Amino acid sequence: MTNKVLLLILLSGLLFSLTLDRIKTDLKWPAPIQKKTANYSETSFELGRALFYDPILSADSSISCASCHLSYTAFAHVDHPTSHGIANRIGKRNAPGLFNLAWRQDFHWDGGVQTLTGQALNPLTHRAEMGETLENILLKLNEHPLYAQLFKRVYKQPHIQTWMLLDALQQFTIALVSKESYYDRVSRGKARFSAQQAQGLALFEQHCNRCHTAPLFFSNRFEQNGLAIDSSDLGRFEITGLLADQGKFRVPTLRNISHSFPYMHDGRYRSLKEVLRHYGQQLALNDSQQKDLIAFLKTLTDSTFLSNSRFQYHTLTPKP
Ligand code: HEC
Ligand code: HEC
Repeated sequence: MTNKVLLLILLSGLLFSLTLDRIKTDLKWPAPIQKKTANYSETSFELGRALFYDPILSADSSISCASCHLSYTAFAHVDHPTSHGIANRIGKRNAPGLFNLAWRQDFHWDGGVQTLTGQALNPLTHRAEMGETLENILLKLNEHPLYAQLFKRVYKQPHIQTWMLLDALQQFTIALVSKESYYDRVSRGKARFSAQQAQGLALFEQHCNRCHTAPLFFSNRFEQNGLAIDSSDLGRFEITGLLADQGKFRVPTLRNISHSFPYMHDGRYRSLKEVLRHYGQQLALNDSQQKDLIAFLKTLTDSTFLSNSRFQYHTLTPKP
């Protein structure tokens, strides 16, 4: 090879990686859809956090929100394909990670819930999750001197009511924001992708971004991603009853994806390798392309978020 040819190859490689670094990485985040409520304060956040970690909300005091939504796995559930509630009851769906929820139009794999505040009614009262009645929860909380004091401080009312419980939980879940991944550092010009990550990004742009759209890496749509339709869970169809919605599920986020296994609405895949094998068959991606995509997906891990002690368990303390 002559020096000239070598130089050309080097230059085009450099240009290729420069363009890749510049395209599509410094995208602006859209405005959030779910809003913090008027009662938001540091105390209400701490109250919501305490409730999120407290099994008092379940029928037999064995399960808290955090039992299925663990901070170290981006608030997903990793020890079972589908969720695991009171009395060892198994739910039918995989618990999704909880973060960047303010940018979601609807919740759950089928979009059956429209507001983040209302969402908590489902796990609290679901037979296979926390299995408790609202009446009992309010009774327990009103009798609890510390909760009684904190709720009074935040909501300025003599007794704890359902809307306050839901509001407080939302104060915590809406605050879970993840935007400090390696990808974000590249976006801000603070880091660069390796050649493999850059190739993964190019493949991502080509095959994945139309559904898992950057910079959130999800979209508020329901799609069919090639999994065979399973009559035990028809997804969006269960909400709309439209035949065209059979087997459609909401597009999940790919941020922190290397930590929120297992994958898909039913947790059928345990590793990204298995997920990419599925897409590889659909889209004719060879082994090395699948590896490049995984290398890119790993840049979406936000370890600052995963280990943020602000979002972990803290003992509830009386306020002076
Ligand atoms: C037994 C396991 C379990 C418990 C306990 C649990 N969840 Fe979940 N959570 C799930 C599952 C499974 C889903 C997905 C449900 C679906 O798609 O039908 C989910 C979905 C969610 C969502 C919607 C996320 C999204 O992106 O759509 C939020 C928010 C949430 N849970 C918050 C909570 C809160 C707050 C609590 C406590 C009050 C809680 N969860 C308790 C398993 C659980
Ligand atoms: C047509 C839209 C669409 C395209 C294109 C698409 N996906 Fe998906 N993806 C989805 C949907 C919908 C789901 C959830 C399906 C389910 O649970 O049944 C999903 C699930 C996933 C999951 C599992 C997420 C989780 O939390 O369980 C991963 C990982 C993933 N996709 C990666 C990719 C990659 C990588 C590409 C490109 C090679 C891609 N997707 C292309 C729509 C799409």
